[in-house]
Amino acid sequence: MCGIVGYVGEREASGVLVHGLQLLEYRGYDSAGLAVLANGDVSVRRSVGKLKNLENLLAVEPLPGKSGIGHTRWATHGRPSEANAHPHRAGRVVLIHNGIIENFLELRAELQASGREFSSETDTEIVAHLIDDEMARGRDLAAATRAAIARLEGSFALVVMSSDEPGKLFAAKSATPIVIGLGDGENFVASDVPALLDYTRDMLFLEDGEMAEISSAGVRLSLFDGTPVEREPRRITWDPVTAQKSGYKHFMLKEINEQPQATIDTMRGRLLVESGDVTLEDLESSNDWWNQVERIDLVACGTAWHACLVGKFFIEKLARVPCNVDYGSEFRYRDPILDGRGMLLAVSQSGETADTLAAVEAARAAKVRTAAICNVVDSSIARRSDAVLYTHAGPEISVASTKAFVTQLTALLLIAIHIGRRRGTLAADASGELIESLLHLPGPMRDALAMADEIDALARRYVNAENFLFVGRGLNYPIALEGALKLKELSYIHAEGYPAGELKHGPIALISETMPVVVLLPKNGAYAKTLSNMKEVESRGGQIIVVTDVDDPAVEEVANDVIRVPTVHSLLMPIILSIPLQLLSYFVAVHRGTDVDQPRNLAKSVTVE
Ligand code: F6R
Repeated sequence: MCGIVGYVGEREASGVLVHGLQLLEYRGYDSAGLAVLANGDVSVRRSVGKLKNLENLLAVEPLPGKSGIGHTRWATHGRPSEANAHPHRAGRVVLIHNGIIENFLELRAELQASGREFSSETDTEIVAHLIDDEMARGRDLAAATRAAIARLEGSFALVVMSSDEPGKLFAAKSATPIVIGLGDGENFVASDVPALLDYTRDMLFLEDGEMAEISSAGVRLSLFDGTPVEREPRRITWDPVTAQKSGYKHFMLKEINEQPQATIDTMRGRLLVESGDVTLEDLESSNDWWNQVERIDLVACGTAWHACLVGKFFIEKLARVPCNVDYGSEFRYRDPILDGRGMLLAVSQSGETADTLAAVEAARAAKVRTAAICNVVDSSIARRSDAVLYTHAGPEISVASTKAFVTQLTALLLIAIHIGRRRGTLAADASGELIESLLHLPGPMRDALAMADEIDALARRYVNAENFLFVGRGLNYPIALEGALKLKELSYIHAEGYPAGELKHGPIALISETMPVVVLLPKNGAYAKTLSNMKEVESRGGQIIVVTDVDDPAVEEVANDVIRVPTVHSLLMPIILSIPLQLLSYFVAVHRGTDVDQPRNLAKSVTVE
């Protein structure tokens, strides 16, 4: 999830590139860089931190020239540093990359064995070396890029240039977006439309497996194997703000819709389908702990805390390690048992949440081993933990967490499978079945997202409710808590989540005709018992909205509304059930006219106690 811009034409390239990168600033970044060709040479400027730092550098060391590439980095492999910032250079090749090269360790070993030296920790630099290697064998830039791409596994949007072929850029796409902007005597390339809107509205979108040769005279599309591709440009009529949201009305809706891809990115390179195992290189150094640990403290705040509740279920079920789930703000003050037999697993999207960070520090002070699940690379929690598993969900801009939550669930499940397999509590066939289901999960997730219009209509019916209850059981009970949290933070409606079995111990007193109750009723989640809880609500006049994967007349009879979701493996149902609840909160908030992306009183990253 980085920002990419490229330019060829008659303007000063650096101005176009910096302006494009400014328009991608909303993606968040940790370093930036530019490469521009002049007098037969490509010069590079890079700097860590905000784009302003790069702009300051360019003021002192300008980059004149009419063609170039620019990049803002959102770190995946290697911490944010000048050496890891793009563009990367190898010999005569300079390139920028967005995505993850999964087989980069093997490729690096091979290139190192042939005498190549690396100046960064990134997967990207490998690609520059591969292309340069091919050029050294006499191939031109196009052929060398094709040959290098054929060796890559993973996802990539690449833009490549070389002093050997001035005035040309090559772009290639596999599972990561690339758009080409068509001008008059000039052409552009970017990761996202907003970077180009001030120059052109005529765009060509590359498809997976396609390359583009871009010069000031024109753009030629082809498949990776060289077969020419013909495509008509599209005229983009979005205003600049809509463009930043890829055409969605809000970042939240964009991020909800990004969840299938974000889940793929969390799993990428970590599932070993044949052996039914999960490999977590990032946690490799902690392998021994997983074997020895007698207790895991899962610590987080807010939505991430809900992910931990599901994580406890995953880890206890698959790995049989007892788990305790704590709020960061509670853990640090409650004199927890911190000894060598336990470990702490912190979960945080931002990696900067003060209370969660304090829990990590408390564990460190007590010499307890720590691991973290984070989205933001090199964030404080990631740096302070002994091991870290990144979710790779890309920047989450909406304050209300959605794709970060779903990818935290995915990461927790990967950890549970990993520990379960190591400790011998999870048989290969059961884990194989789970991995197979994980691989197919993006499909049902997309089917759940396709229910948006239906959920919008439902939201309109309940928009004036002042209270809501959400109930679920087992590993889906935390999803009820999360559904209630999303609704209250977005629409300011009072909402509570409960285990369905708890209703009769108090909350049932709240039930009346004005109380909508959202019931999570998956087939495998104590179905009959939850159904009888629903009947208790019905007999007290409550309005019942059921989210289920079951087609059962008994449900239709009792429910006022039924949202039917796809069936997946029972351990994956929390992910599927989350989607309609996110959409429900989103549409209720839209119809109540609240500020969806920045709800009142909330901040994206809570860095104070
Ligand atoms: C709710 C939400 C918050 C965060 C919480 C922890 O939608 O986003 O509850 O989950 O503030 O944040 P991170 O995950 O950054 O530690």
